[in-house]
Amino acid sequence: MSSEPSSPNQLPNQPTDINAARKFAVPNRLAGKVAIVTGASSGIGQAIAIRLAAEGAKVVIDYIGRAEGAEDTSQAIAQAGGTATIVQADVTKMADIEKLVAETYNRFGRGDILVNNAGVEKGADFWEVTEADYDLVMNVNLKGAFFLSQAFVRRLIAAKQPGRIINISSVHEDMVFPHFASYAASKGGLRMLMRNLAVELGPHNIAVNNVAPGAIITPINKSLLDNKQQLQALLNNIPLGRMGTSAEVAGLVAYLASEEAGYVTGSTFILDGGLIRNYHEQ
Ligand code: BGC
Repeated sequence: MSSEPSSPNQLPNQPTDINAARKFAVPNRLAGKVAIVTGASSGIGQAIAIRLAAEGAKVVIDYIGRAEGAEDTSQAIAQAGGTATIVQADVTKMADIEKLVAETYNRFGRGDILVNNAGVEKGADFWEVTEADYDLVMNVNLKGAFFLSQAFVRRLIAAKQPGRIINISSVHEDMVFPHFASYAASKGGLRMLMRNLAVELGPHNIAVNNVAPGAIITPINKSLLDNKQQLQALLNNIPLGRMGTSAEVAGLVAYLASEEAGYVTGSTFILDGGLIRNYHEQ
């Protein structure tokens, strides 16, 4: 079976995506570790959960709405001999954040790696943005990462244990995203949150980094992928000429979660086919 999406710019079907997520896994690199991955029922989060499990981590699959997606992630992990558990938790709610961390410790006895992946975007002209959409985007993308990280590190600090926090931000933590002002603001916030936490948590041996994907083939991009003209305009801006895959993001996350990355903290790692560096004379 091919491990690549059938066409680089179509939503890959479930089985090929799973194979791609495992393709470059380093066996046992994360053995003995427990990882929480938020938003692991689809897209980038699903690939990260599968990849971390393939490297030996026990994985907590967080989801909010799509139970069947969380099941798919769990089954993919189990079929490959990995270990995972599912917890439904809305990262915008403090009680759910507490539950997610508590369940991680109840079921697996520890926590080592937190991947703040859950994210949403709402497109609108700035002057049309509603308070409800603003709150949703900021609460999922920024508040969720803020308070889940807080709940996660409280346990680590109390137990004097090292840890890793990896935020899935976006090229838009640095690059403008017209018509997505709330999204860009949330990701810019995530960038400074990461930098601040790297300094505050460094003395506790907790490393904090961001992975900043560009245009990745995931459900969040479905309308873009369905719109040939918009898609072509985007591809024209990407020096490598294609969108990225969730599996490619997952590989970078696995490295950052591993002991090999023990000296890496306070940085953003861009994974965007060159999009952020693109410039053309008009
Ligand atoms: C957004 C996508 C967008 C990509 C590149 C991502 O963060 O979620 O909608 O296509 O950045 O602009």
